[in-house]
Amino acid sequence: MTLALFGGAPVRTRPFPTWPIFGDEEEQRLLLALRSRQWGRLQGSEVAAFEQRFASMHGCRHGIAVANGTVSLRIALLAAGIRADDEVIVPPYTFVSTASAVVEANAVPVFADVELETFNLSAAAVSRAVTPRTRAVVPVHFAGLPADMDAIMTIAAERNLIVIEDAAHAHGASYQGRPAGSLGHMGSFSFQSSKNLTAGEGGIIVSNDEALAERCRSIHNCGRVPDGLWYEHHEISGNYRLGELQGAVLNCQLDRLAAQTRTREENGRHLARRLAALPGLHPQGRPDTCTRHAYHLFMLRLDPDAFGVPRDSVLRALDAEGIPCSGGYGFSLPDQPLFRNKAFGPYLASASPALDYRAVRCPNSDLLCRQAIWLEHSLLLGPQSDADDIADAFEKIHAHRAALRDAARESSGAAR
Ligand SMILES: Cc1ncc(COP(=O)(O)O)c(C=O)c1O
Repeated sequence: MTLALFGGAPVRTRPFPTWPIFGDEEEQRLLLALRSRQWGRLQGSEVAAFEQRFASMHGCRHGIAVANGTVSLRIALLAAGIRADDEVIVPPYTFVSTASAVVEANAVPVFADVELETFNLSAAAVSRAVTPRTRAVVPVHFAGLPADMDAIMTIAAERNLIVIEDAAHAHGASYQGRPAGSLGHMGSFSFQSSKNLTAGEGGIIVSNDEALAERCRSIHNCGRVPDGLWYEHHEISGNYRLGELQGAVLNCQLDRLAAQTRTREENGRHLARRLAALPGLHPQGRPDTCTRHAYHLFMLRLDPDAFGVPRDSVLRALDAEGIPCSGGYGFSLPDQPLFRNKAFGPYLASASPALDYRAVRCPNSDLLCRQAIWLEHSLLLGPQSDADDIADAFEKIHAHRAALRDAARESSGAAR
């Protein structure tokens, strides 16, 4: 059994499930929305129905659907009363929006490192990062695993901080039986194409706080207020509303979410069990507080010394075995040119000479950037034998590690 990279037969030749998944339900509901001629959120009923369903699925009284999961974060920050130069604590291992939304709210992102076991924001690092200027924390439920919310909410209560959960990866996840996104003051979700619930683009803010929800609703609708005139605008804001065609798709996708989440959860757990048995592989740790993992990503860390092969060679070998995969983020956020150069346009965070992201150290996040392997959630949507194929491919690569390591050495020698 030679590695596929060296001409052997691949472990897997069949494709994994494609994403997104749709059927007659989406086609019919879209046609109805189209023919209704009510394409805008303020005329039709699809977005309103979706907001209500999504919020109540989270045990929340309010849901405000918006254009994407970046503006949902920015709107939540503005609704929380963040002012110029306030500090907001964010993790360094996340999509850029978690931190860029803070800059776009004219505040200053402060990075607190992630835990090496869960890949989520470390509550201890949050404690160390709090200053008198800190106003909010944005934990990310990374890959669909709920963050350490009890500890983060305790710090927030002691320091009077607002907590906005970035639940862009966590549709359907739960923490001690409570839905991710409903644990802080506001929860923010994305419905962008890759997400576990999608309409191509879109986002939502959920909350149980009446006043915060009212402000989000106003900010997403040009600063209008419930009893105001149409052309009466109360604060700086914009049109961040979601359209009815996306609402129609989301209503159908929501009907599919619970069953898809169960399948991902079962396959994810099975895959994690099998991979953890191999030396040097560390699937994302799962604390007991996680009662449902959304598995937006199946993520693991590969220690190249213990596994016996560099991560990038494993990625190439997996791909050749028919397992689509990636190394995820190439940089921790403080190392992104955006932050290194404080390329913040007109926003105030660029003005403070003392703020230097080059000096920020987040060693766990940096290690993940070098050692992570990401598998997309659609790989977990088929039968358990799909997860077995993935695990078999890792085992095969491990068994042939000497050949792979030699090839990696030769090619790095040749490159020199
Ligand atoms: C953790 C996280 N937060 C926020 C976002 C932003 O969502 P959107 O792409 O809908 O703006 C993403 C998108 O990938 C994300 O992964």
